[in-house]
Amino acid sequence: MTLAVREMTDTEVDVIIDYFQTSTPEHLETLGVDPTRLPTAESWRERLRHQCALPVEQKNIVLLIWLSGDGTIGFSTADKIRYGEQANMHLHVVEPERRHQGIGAECVRRSVDIYFQRLKLKRLFCEPNAFNVAPNRTLQKAGFKYLKTHMTVPGPLNFHQAVNRWVIERQADTIQPN
Ligand SMILES: CC(C)(COP(=O)(O)OP(=O)(O)OC[C@H]1O[C@@H](n2cnc3c(N)ncnc32)[C@H](O)[C@@H]1OP(=O)(O)O)[C@@H](O)C(=O)NCCC(=O)NCCS
Repeated sequence: MTLAVREMTDTEVDVIIDYFQTSTPEHLETLGVDPTRLPTAESWRERLRHQCALPVEQKNIVLLIWLSGDGTIGFSTADKIRYGEQANMHLHVVEPERRHQGIGAECVRRSVDIYFQRLKLKRLFCEPNAFNVAPNRTLQKAGFKYLKTHMTVPGPLNFHQAVNRWVIERQADTIQPN
């Protein structure tokens, strides 16, 4: 299977919105997402499209799309961005039947390279729900280091929960070119 990871265009942001808005309550619970905190499609679309148009130094969120030969298979976002320092990433294979086949680990590796290069990062965090096995295993496989488990509200869509904090750190001179 040929995989590609690249920045999302402003016409592709509905991949993210549709994913969350069509997820079952059970899946949102696994993700640690509170369904009452999802924005309306219109306001969400406007905000994400605005972010796509900003110069990278000014972005609050970077959106990546994961593609295979037959179309979109997933996406990743980075937020809590301190340009030149750090950010937090998220990872999603959209169709349940395409999970657990090696796509996530490979697309996370490629997403990490893009985030480090575009945002000139020193470190990249990811904080999945501690009970959500798939991302925790995937992050470890993609080279993240486990830091700690703690209780927090990890983002504006989330409820209070236990999360595992993972990190990848790189020296500036070891960043891989894309
Ligand atoms: C998290 C996610 C992106 C991982 O992608 P994926 O394509 O399923 O992962 P991979 O097939 O590359 O598997 C990577 C590792 O995780 C393990 N893994 C994946 N899904 C698993 C599951 N449901 N249970 C146990 N292990 C799992 C794999 O076995 C592999 O580890 P191994 O090679 O050491 O055995 C994907 O499962 C997903 O989208 N899940 C729903 C969304 C989600 O939970 N996102 C995280 C929000 S923070």
